[in-house]
Amino acid sequence: MTDIYGILAYPASHSLSPLLQNAAFEMLDIDAKYDFFEIPPAELSAFMQRVRNEPIRGLSVSLPYKESILKYLDEVDSTARDIGAVNTILNENGILKGYNTDTDAAIESLEEITPVSGKHIVVLGAGGAARAIVYGLTKKHAKVTILNRTQEKAQKLAEAFFCDFGRLDQLKNLKADILIQTTNVGMNFDCVIDSFYFKQAPRHLVVFDIIYAPRETKLIQEAVKAGLKVVTGDRMFLRQAMRQFEIWTKQKAPFHIMERLMRI
Ligand code: ATR
Repeated sequence: MTDIYGILAYPASHSLSPLLQNAAFEMLDIDAKYDFFEIPPAELSAFMQRVRNEPIRGLSVSLPYKESILKYLDEVDSTARDIGAVNTILNENGILKGYNTDTDAAIESLEEITPVSGKHIVVLGAGGAARAIVYGLTKKHAKVTILNRTQEKAQKLAEAFFCDFGRLDQLKNLKADILIQTTNVGMNFDCVIDSFYFKQAPRHLVVFDIIYAPRETKLIQEAVKAGLKVVTGDRMFLRQAMRQFEIWTKQKAPFHIMERLMRI
């Protein structure tokens, strides 16, 4: 019987996951299909019951369910538990297990360009995505400062992971090695910080924007214009998808085919 996987989100139709995962299944000749599960909040509970009973072998979980999904699971691995968010579910004979592949995906994407350990890293934003990334950075012994529009939220996250915190306009006073943008502002070609910052930023600064649509956000464009090294969000998206594939199938994800699709 064909195994079913899918993206659980609301809305879900914009997701690139079906393209990547179906290509990977095909490449490795696995009898599986990856679908869209666009489930409104009122139907989530019934849907999760369906997942246990039908041959739905795994799910990617996206907004708005990464946190609220935890209560439907039987087991949650330690990373996802510490972050408080799940982006991957494996259904093993009706036992639902939760994982978070965002953390490692973010760190690996950065480490393609620069080591993280011991670096001073400024994280812009203090939402769910920032939490997964800050968790990974502190595990790597980076020195992290969280800057957010709402300072209280930055403070709460900073206290959970023993980091510094502040407001977005304090960026210019900090000597950062790496800047990570985690807010959703770049989706509409706005920039969450004054792009003048890049004119006086340290020359060795590496700039990572986790937004992948568009790949070249205004922040990335300004950083490139200033001659800085950048990491675009498609690298992180690719890596979190590869890790999901590996959790579900216990096989190595076909990096090159998935990477090529991300470039289209
Ligand atoms: P996600 O799970 O994708 O991180 P989230 O938890 O809703 O989403 O967090 C969104 C982040 O983007 C927050 O840090 C938010 O700042 P606030 O805590 O002040 O709300 C930030 N954000 C959203 N819109 C913003 C804007 N126009 N300017 C600055 N920051 C913004």
